[in-house]
Amino acid sequence: MAGIVGTIITSHVPAIGRAIARGLQDDPYWKPFFDGFPPVRDWLAKVRPDVVVLVYNDHGLNFFLDKMPTFAIGAAPEYRNADEGWGIPTVAPFQGDPALSWHLIESLVGEDFDLTTCQEMVVDHAFTLPMALCWPDQRWPVRTVPVCVNTVQVPLPSAARCYKLGQALGRAIESWPGDERVVVMGTGGLSHQLDGERAGFINKDFDLQFMESLVSDPAWATQFSSAQLVELAGTQGIELLNWLVTRGTLPAKAHKVHSNYHIPISNTASGLMVLEPFA
Ligand code: DHB
Ligand code: FE
Repeated sequence: MAGIVGTIITSHVPAIGRAIARGLQDDPYWKPFFDGFPPVRDWLAKVRPDVVVLVYNDHGLNFFLDKMPTFAIGAAPEYRNADEGWGIPTVAPFQGDPALSWHLIESLVGEDFDLTTCQEMVVDHAFTLPMALCWPDQRWPVRTVPVCVNTVQVPLPSAARCYKLGQALGRAIESWPGDERVVVMGTGGLSHQLDGERAGFINKDFDLQFMESLVSDPAWATQFSSAQLVELAGTQGIELLNWLVTRGTLPAKAHKVHSNYHIPISNTASGLMVLEPFA
């Protein structure tokens, strides 16, 4: 049976791609952010995943405001980067795993999660940059399955629904008969707001409490409605729903391998966590 060896949860911001392209990892502005990743790479070298199931939000590439699935999943043989630009060098395509995708789809639809199934899908910075932070040579050693959550347009899924989706996704992965070692990666957040009267809003107290809750009390954030989470974390900070889906794939008891938190990168409070199932 396939097994989830752990989860990596990290912020995503297009400016990370520009910093990588310009080699700014040791620049004083970027260093506290990039310094979070060597321990993640050490951990990856130890757990040697075959597959990454990557939970993120699409930023207008596959779904625009006219068509917005609440949850969507890739079932393509390959996923190409089609992000908005910034002059960042193109990354190599990501290999998919259609057989595993269809198993996850069957299992999730069987548990009443009606995801949109995508046999063609392009990916953006929310997918490519966390992968590049984990594998800086950008020679992806894993197959991938993208899972998209609508964090963009109201009505948003509730935190409780996202946590339950994660639990069902965890069961779906664990019931795949192959012997793959799977890492579930979640990207987005933490607190940030890119537009409106509260543009620039960041809430460190909330972010740190949220990160702590993922270790000690993973359903803590499900007490809040998505509207309350937007108030607490910002209109784009609600990307933390991706963190909740990811956390839900692990058992209630999980062990923190590593974490980092830094304000800001671009407009965003950046968080990073590696969790393992409790041994
Ligand atoms: C920024 C953050 C995001 O989550 C995103 O998708 C785009 C930009 C930012 O902080 O610049
Ligand atoms: Fe984003």
